[in-house]
Amino acid sequence: MQIKNICCIGAGYVGGPTMAVIALKCPHISVIVVDSNPDKIKAWNGPLDSLPVYEPGLAEVVGEARGRNLFFSDDIPGNIEKAEMIFMAVNTPTKTEGEGAGMAADLRYIKACAKDIAKYSKSNKIIVEKSTLPVRTAEKIKEILEENSSKIHFEILSNPEFLAEGTAIQDLFKSDRILIGGDETESGQNAVQALVDIYTNWIPKEKILTTNVWSSELAKLASNAMLAQRISSINSLSVLCEKTGANIDELSKAIGMDHRIGPHFLKASVGFGGSCFQKDILNLVYLCKYYGLDEVAEYWHQVVKINDYQKNRFAEKITDNFDGDLNGKQIAILGWAFKANTNDSRESAAIYVAEKLFDEGATLKIYDPMVTKTSILNDVQFYWKEIPDSIEVQNRIHIEMSLEDACEKVDAIAILTGWEAFKTKNFNYDRFQSKIFDGRGIIKEAINIYTLGK
Ligand SMILES: NC(=O)c1ccc[n+]([C@@H]2O[C@H](COP(=O)([O-])OP(=O)(O)OC[C@H]3O[C@@H](n4cnc5c(N)ncnc54)[C@H](O)[C@@H]3O)[C@@H](O)[C@H]2O)c1
Repeated sequence: MQIKNICCIGAGYVGGPTMAVIALKCPHISVIVVDSNPDKIKAWNGPLDSLPVYEPGLAEVVGEARGRNLFFSDDIPGNIEKAEMIFMAVNTPTKTEGEGAGMAADLRYIKACAKDIAKYSKSNKIIVEKSTLPVRTAEKIKEILEENSSKIHFEILSNPEFLAEGTAIQDLFKSDRILIGGDETESGQNAVQALVDIYTNWIPKEKILTTNVWSSELAKLASNAMLAQRISSINSLSVLCEKTGANIDELSKAIGMDHRIGPHFLKASVGFGGSCFQKDILNLVYLCKYYGLDEVAEYWHQVVKINDYQKNRFAEKITDNFDGDLNGKQIAILGWAFKANTNDSRESAAIYVAEKLFDEGATLKIYDPMVTKTSILNDVQFYWKEIPDSIEVQNRIHIEMSLEDACEKVDAIAILTGWEAFKTKNFNYDRFQSKIFDGRGIIKEAINIYTLGK
C-alpha cells in the first residue's frame, strides 16, 4: 500500500518537527498536521521566526515544505477522513488525579484522539502511535476504535519518537534507528511495510528495526529510563566527589573512556528536566508495580529521587553560601529552558531551583534567550507549590531581556541551562563580581556548562 495522505494529530514538539521532516523528504506525500489548539495552528502557519517550537534548522525545513506538501490545519474531521495513515502525537503527561496519580500516564488525549478517528473515518486506516505510551496501549486504542466504529479496519503501529529537543532536526535526518512495531498478522505486516516505505526515502534500511507492538512501546520507556539513569548515576557520584576531593569531571572522563561505558550522558549537572524523562520513568515504575514487580519499580524510582536530590542540593548550596538567608539578595537565574537550543521549559531544573531560592527570600533576575516572559510566568503559576501573589511577582521576579541586565548588581549567578552564550569563553562574568554557581557549587571563574536534560 502506498501512502499518499498523512494526517498527524498533535502539532507540538514531536508532531511539528517530525511531520515537517517527513514532508521535506517525501514530496510525493501530503502531510497535514492538525491540533485542537487553533492558536498553535495559527503560529505554525505564521512567520518562520516565531513558530511555536524553536529548534535549530526547523524554520528552514518548514519554509521549504509548507504550502507544498506540508500543511497545518484545525480541521480535524476533514483531515482524518482524507488520510490513509494517521499519526497520534498528542501529549501523554503524568496523571494528576485518579488511580495512578503522580505516576501513570494520563491517556485522556490519546483516548480523545482515538474517538475522533473512529468518529470521522470512512475508510480503512493505519494508526501510528508516535506519542510515548505505556506498553499494551495499542490494545486500548483498538478497543476504542472498534467500539466507536464498525466496518472499518484499523491497523495499529507503534513508532516511538527518539528525537532529542535541541537537536531534533539533525536527529530526524540521521536517526540512530527507526523502530516500528506491528501485529504479526498479514495486514499488520503490510502496515509495517507501508511505514517502512516512508522512512526509506531518507533512512538507510539497516537502521529500520521492526518488532512486535509491545516491544516497540516498551523500548521507548526503557530507552528514556536508561538515559536518565546515567545522569542520575553521575550526579549521585558528584556529591561523593565533593566529600572526598575527587574531581567529577576527571571521574566522568576516566569512566567514559571505557568503551563498554562510553562518554555520553556522563556530565554532572543540576539534574535532568524536560517533559519526558521524569514522566516516562514514573510511568515505568507504575507499570512494574502494576505487574507486582516492586523491587524493579523501586530500582527505577531511585533515578527520579536522585534527580530531585540533586536539584535541592544545588539550591541549598547557594542558600548555605549566604548563611541560610537570602532576604535582600538578588540572584541571576541564567536559563529557563530545560536544555540549550530549545524553548521548552517543561519540568526544567531552573523552575525548581528558582522556586527554592525565591522561598528563601531571594529576588530573582531571570534570563533565557528563547523562553518568553509569558511562558516563564506561566511556569511559576503551574509548577511552584506556593504561587506568589502579583505584588510579590512584581517585586521579586524580574524577567530580563539580556544576559548583561540579568547579571547587573546581583549577589550570585546561577547558570541553569547550557546555552552557548552563557559559557565563560563567550561572556565575561568577571566584571559583575558575583558568585557563580553551576551544578556542583561555587565556581570562582572558569565554569563548565553542563548539558541539562536529555
Ligand atoms: N518532546 C520530546 O522531546 C519528545 C520526544 C519523544 C517523544 N515524545 C512524546 O511525544 C508525545 C508528544 O509530546 P510533545 O512534546 O510533542 O507534546 P506537546 O504538548 O508539545 O504537543 C502535543 C499537542 O497535542 C495537542 N492535542 C492534545 N490532544 C489533542 C486532541 N485530542 N486532538 C488534537 N490535538 C490534541 C495539544 O494541543 C498539543 O499541541 C508525548 O507522548 C511525548 O512523551 C516527546
